[in-house]
Amino acid sequence: MKPHLIILGAPGSGKGTQAAKLVEKGYKHISTGDLLRAEIAKGTELGQKVAGIISRGDLVDDRTVMALLKANCDVDKVSYIFDGFPRNIAQAEMLEAELLQGKKTLAVYFKIDLSILVSRVVNRRTCSKCGEIYNMATKPPRVSDTCDKCGATGSLTQRKDDTEEVVSNRLQIFKDTVDPMLAFYKSKGVLVELDASKQEKDVFSALEKVIG
Ligand code: AP5
Repeated sequence: MKPHLIILGAPGSGKGTQAAKLVEKGYKHISTGDLLRAEIAKGTELGQKVAGIISRGDLVDDRTVMALLKANCDVDKVSYIFDGFPRNIAQAEMLEAELLQGKKTLAVYFKIDLSILVSRVVNRRTCSKCGEIYNMATKPPRVSDTCDKCGATGSLTQRKDDTEEVVSNRLQIFKDTVDPMLAFYKSKGVLVELDASKQEKDVFSALEKVIG
């Protein structure tokens, strides 16, 4: 089995975009943001508890997200791409102690100048039918409001937490939490960095090289 991949990167650095491409290489993509948004969409007790936190761009508490992650993956069967987890050093330690437990992993840091990310995120639209990610400024669908991938019309939606104000909060939280996580994976000898400011296809080529 290939090592599990942990993608670390700021909001808008392209984690979801690249993870979707890697699925074609046999990985399973798990995004804690997607899992939490699915709970909100279903109106579960958990969804009701986290909706306000996510709409402000704050982090949901570590234990809640860890439980959700554990309930949704089986790391013995397939190599995962962890997207959005861990978000801080406490989550990094939990992931290792409670889920990965010494299994082979590679942490890939999507390094990028944070100043370009607000514009990337506020222009993001996602197809509610197939999850394809667009950017209305740089990568709009070929036909207006129609998904290139699945052909659905009227399905491109904007996330509630993708406003300028909320993105600024999400970026600040990222800045405050990233360094200890990078140090954690560096000390284990499993950290690689790549330049996430390049075009999507170039980021993917760099990713293919680091995962071998
Ligand atoms: P989450 O869903 O994880 O959001 P995020 O980390 O803020 O990341 P994004 O999804 O915004 O960015 P991305 O890097 O995936 O970018 P994308 O590829 O879409 O978390 C949301 C919320 O849930 C959190 O704020 C928190 O409340 C909660 N949460 C989640 N996990 C949690 C946890 N572990 N603990 C506690 N709370 C948690 O790309 C963005 C845009 O850029 C798109 O428009 C795309 O087309 C464009 N783009 C991508 N790549 C390129 C490129 N190379 N060049 C130009 N444009 C590009």
